[in-house]
Amino acid sequence: MGKTIIISNRLPVQLQISNGDITAIPSVGGLATGMKSVHSGGDSLWIGWSGLTEEEIPKELEPKIDAALAEHGSSKVKLTEKEVDGFYYGFSNRTIWPLFHYFLEYSEFQLDYWNTYKEVNQKFADAILANTEDGDTIWVHDYQLMLVPQMVRKERPDVSIGFFLHIPFPSFEIFRTLPWREELLEGVLGSDLIGFHTYDYERHFLSSVRRLLGLEVSFNDITMGDHVIKVDSFPMGIDYKKFSDAAKIHYNKSKNEQSELQQRLNTHQETDPDAKFILSIDRLDYSKGIAKRLNAFEYFLNKYPQYKEKVRLIILAVPSRSNVPQYQLLKREIDELVGRINGEFSTVSWTPIWYFYRSMPFENLIDLYTSSDIAWLTPLRDGMNLVAKEYIATRTDQTGVLILSEMAGSANEMNESLLVNPNNFEQTADALDEAINMPVEEQKARNSVLQKRLARYNVEKWANDFMTSLKSQKEREAANV
Ligand code: UDP
Ligand code: G6P
Repeated sequence: MGKTIIISNRLPVQLQISNGDITAIPSVGGLATGMKSVHSGGDSLWIGWSGLTEEEIPKELEPKIDAALAEHGSSKVKLTEKEVDGFYYGFSNRTIWPLFHYFLEYSEFQLDYWNTYKEVNQKFADAILANTEDGDTIWVHDYQLMLVPQMVRKERPDVSIGFFLHIPFPSFEIFRTLPWREELLEGVLGSDLIGFHTYDYERHFLSSVRRLLGLEVSFNDITMGDHVIKVDSFPMGIDYKKFSDAAKIHYNKSKNEQSELQQRLNTHQETDPDAKFILSIDRLDYSKGIAKRLNAFEYFLNKYPQYKEKVRLIILAVPSRSNVPQYQLLKREIDELVGRINGEFSTVSWTPIWYFYRSMPFENLIDLYTSSDIAWLTPLRDGMNLVAKEYIATRTDQTGVLILSEMAGSANEMNESLLVNPNNFEQTADALDEAINMPVEEQKARNSVLQKRLARYNVEKWANDFMTSLKSQKEREAANV
């Protein structure tokens, strides 16, 4: 058995250089947080971008950078500033990301972005090929690297290649608008197995393959000459034990072992034990519906004025892709909304919204999850949404209410939460009211089912299921079945 090569744009850590010192900070985002647990458990090499451009890395620091990455089982692909602009800020995040999340009007179709995307995908493919030995398995991740499978297959048809898309695959009517739609599909079809979070994304993909490439699709199999590709859905789980264990440790901490954040939260809880904390955590991304959520919160406070001074909305918005104009505009919009709503409703003893624009260390995430009575996650589109699963995993006493958008991939597996359409303010306000008043017994009944499911379908099982399916697909192909 060979090793597994994991390949994604984002590595598990991001490097930063200050005064000649290198610091590795954990990457944010479902792909990195989820795959980190898989990676730490086995014989694998993770290839990706360090987060620094070539121009930012002084030559003499290169060995130190490589050593810092090697500590995390990782190896870097070198990208220049120009490449990062065209490939990452350009085609990945100004073309594919908005399009696949149904933000058609944000999607830019620029030939130079596309050309850089192709060049950079070839760089990633070359890095894989340089590290591939007979018997290795290659697992390519996400929309930044859709051409890589085909590029690797061209040189190494013998190795097993899997591809997993962590974001939605849109319906054919949306996907067809992309000028380079056939090339993207052909790129992914270099794989032996293609995985999606949900059956809907899988169906959309198969429909585009059939209608744009005219290929034969039978059940889950696509036939391309003598190559048969399997397509399936594998809903990604979380490292359930890591979150539930962290919550247990959290509850056993003495007062002076608690973080500063936790102590502040305690103070507020002690002053008004009946007041509820409502939590929302997302990368600051338009797909997450943060601005709409703030408007819905205002609507809720107007519809149910009895909750003034009785609820606190904690918004953690993690900085993301801040070189892209849409993200800058959104940041401004959210700043203004928070300011306006707080200005409108605050009293001398109450600020309705606490807004943090930063990423938080794991310990503080656990503080927030365990201290919040309600998690309110209403993306307008989301491939999966692991935060929803993490919140439930930390509720070790089984209290807490999750309000989740129907548009999140995770909604498929989390029917026991309060599912809402984020565009429906009336329904959302009523769901908040229901959550605030939900009897503890009902909370426990719902969470106990959710917890059992999340503990069973954890990230390890997700990765094992994918790998087992990839292995059997390669064997099937070899046997020409
Ligand atoms: N997260 C983090 N630091 C933070 C806030 C969030 O590492 O300050 C993590 C969070 O625990 C989760 C991931 O970022 O694992 C977000 O994944 P999700 O699937 O919810 O959304 P994505 O960002 O991938 O779109
Ligand atoms: C989503 C994507 C990942 C990406 C993450 C964070 O989860 O599916 O591929 O890594 O967001 O975004 P970033 O652009 O910072 O890598």
